[in-house]
Amino acid sequence: MNPFQIAPSILSADFARLGEEVDNVLAAGADIVHFDVMDNHYVPNLTIGPMVCEALRKHGVTAPIDAHLMVSPVDDLIRMFIDAGATYITFHPEASQHIDRSLQLIRDGGCKAGLVFNPATPLHYLDHVMDRLDMILLMSVNPGFGGQKFIPGTLDKLRETRQRIDASGHNIRLEIDGGVKVDNIREIAEAGADTFVAGSAIFNTEDYKATIDQMRAELAQ
Ligand code: DX5
Ligand code: ZN
Repeated sequence: MNPFQIAPSILSADFARLGEEVDNVLAAGADIVHFDVMDNHYVPNLTIGPMVCEALRKHGVTAPIDAHLMVSPVDDLIRMFIDAGATYITFHPEASQHIDRSLQLIRDGGCKAGLVFNPATPLHYLDHVMDRLDMILLMSVNPGFGGQKFIPGTLDKLRETRQRIDASGHNIRLEIDGGVKVDNIREIAEAGADTFVAGSAIFNTEDYKATIDQMRAELAQ
């Protein structure tokens, strides 16, 4: 497994050709499919749900699918994404009435569990659940839309989160989401991230492989 994982966000893919787009980005070297779920309630946008996740599995996608739930409440959709074949399921702690229960639900369903922090969401939500996490996702934009600019203050938050993960001794991936590009991925990695969501930076380019190769070259330096 690559120590650094690239997770293209299909939010910026051509939804009319989604299966082909996912095949292409995986053939181009992506590690994980980042699947943004928005409910027009928790965030002001509406995207795709478990049926589309299931359709990608039926299409033949075997790569990990990282379901990022920007929804409230969360538990019903957690159950549906377990059944739909998600690998990771992450949710925003303030969108769940019972964070511990939602995390348990994910692992009981055989999936990997994660919490997502908006730019202004404090890290104290981590205090009592480190042993229940497989992933921590820091948002470096406010959730709801692709193509926004990376918020620089996230770098300090990444450093703090990296320290907390290392001190915990648990095997937790640290994912970053929003405004990740070829020209900032290296400093984001230096701040502690190991999993990089990139939507517009990959899907808005002609040659996905060239872009992912450039990202890996930056990470290798
Ligand atoms: C935003 C989503 C992101 C988004 C990232 O709410 O969670 O995954 O697609 O898009 P870019 O990489 O274009 O900022
Ligand atoms: Zn996302």
